[in-house]
Amino acid sequence: MAWGQSARAASYPFRLGVASGEPDASSVVLWTRLAPSPLNADGQGGMSNTDVTVEWQVSKTSTFAALVASGSVAARYADAHSVHVVAGGLAADTDYFYRFRAQGHISPVGRTRTAPAPGTAGRDLVMAFASCAHYESGYFTAYRRMAEDDPGLVVHLGDYIYEDPATSGAVRLHVGAETVSLADYRVRHALYKTDPDLQAAHAAAAWLVVPDDHEVENNYAGMVRNDSSPVLTAAQWTARRTAAYRAYYENMPLRPSAAPTGNAIPLYRRVRWGSLATFHLLDTRQFRDDQACGDGWKVCADADLPARTLTGAAQESWLLDGLAQRTATWDLLAQQVFFARQLDGAGAANMDAWDGYRASRARIEQGWRDRAVRNPVVLTGDVHRAWANELKADYADPSSATIGTELVCTSISSDGNGSGDTAVPYASNNPHLKFYADRRGYVRTTITPTQLRADFRAVSGVTEHGAPVSTLRSFVIADGRPGLTQV
Ligand SMILES: [Fe+2]
Repeated sequence: MAWGQSARAASYPFRLGVASGEPDASSVVLWTRLAPSPLNADGQGGMSNTDVTVEWQVSKTSTFAALVASGSVAARYADAHSVHVVAGGLAADTDYFYRFRAQGHISPVGRTRTAPAPGTAGRDLVMAFASCAHYESGYFTAYRRMAEDDPGLVVHLGDYIYEDPATSGAVRLHVGAETVSLADYRVRHALYKTDPDLQAAHAAAAWLVVPDDHEVENNYAGMVRNDSSPVLTAAQWTARRTAAYRAYYENMPLRPSAAPTGNAIPLYRRVRWGSLATFHLLDTRQFRDDQACGDGWKVCADADLPARTLTGAAQESWLLDGLAQRTATWDLLAQQVFFARQLDGAGAANMDAWDGYRASRARIEQGWRDRAVRNPVVLTGDVHRAWANELKADYADPSSATIGTELVCTSISSDGNGSGDTAVPYASNNPHLKFYADRRGYVRTTITPTQLRADFRAVSGVTEHGAPVSTLRSFVIADGRPGLTQV
């Protein structure tokens, strides 16, 4: 049915755009949040304290001449007027358009895609992944360029927002103090979602999202806080985590099964892309032991303690059980922090990354070898630099077998324009680290049954809006042969 723009009861409520996510072979989540005044300090986006009906439509065409699914849902005041519609009954491996209507206004149109049916590879998949979009550090041009690549799927590996306060003199400014309350986090998510480049990336494809630390606070580890500002009691820290996870859920195209309970949010999950790929989305924050020897780069014997874990025991078992299923050519471990061993000139390593949890890493690597996983590929964010790494049976022995591959995306904007350096730091200590680049951007992968190609995409800068994008380097991972071949 055609929608007209009649009887507008309020000002335009779709200022945060639309999003979709979590596709399976017959359904996808459609998201929006009503907020005619997104930055109101109460976090309510200019909405009243009543629930509002939101209608939604899915069609194979952008004219919506024929609908394949439609319905209506309540945007609840209690949820900051966000909606998470599970649009079902869809065909596998199919492109769709979707939109919403509320208060007499029609939303922008988004595109999304369902996964291939189980046991089928479907079309080749262009999957782009990204992380670390600091609003004050620069424009989100890389999100715009990602949308222009027309991906079939986007994976976001965390630091989707940053919690720190508004500064002065940055490219553009946060609003308000460091985020602590639910209202603070709601406003911060709204600020980011008002960005037109981010909106374009959401509208272009379905997303799979996992948070890292900054969605709550820098470098937290499980229930342990590693940041002393602002001063919080234990109860205030628990309340802050509760607020942060709640706002994260409200603002992301997650399935209702990912809704948080108190200060916990169930986020590690598998998303199956037919027989082509399985995405194992990991949560390396909520269940980790605290950083060994304090965070930062350290020479730290405690990092080797066998009981240390980055995933928690339950998630580790869940991951290894999932890897044993081998339902797809490619097993992609989509996670947050640097996986391969990386040493500096003094032999120190990053205690916030897997190097601070070496036994945990070894159990997972040995786990996929024991289970004869054909193509394990780790996808990583966090470090604001692009890297391509070979994972080794013995990191101390460069001639040992390559047992997997890691692709690390740089940041969307965090750390500003970057130096352009491409020399691998401390290369002689890290012969398995094959590529490094200090520019902002993302990784565009093209996944087929015979190879996974990775194009390291970079914009020339982020302090000016609209920079062009180019491919710095491309690698291929061949089916059945872990490791990188430069194209
Ligand atoms: Fe970051």
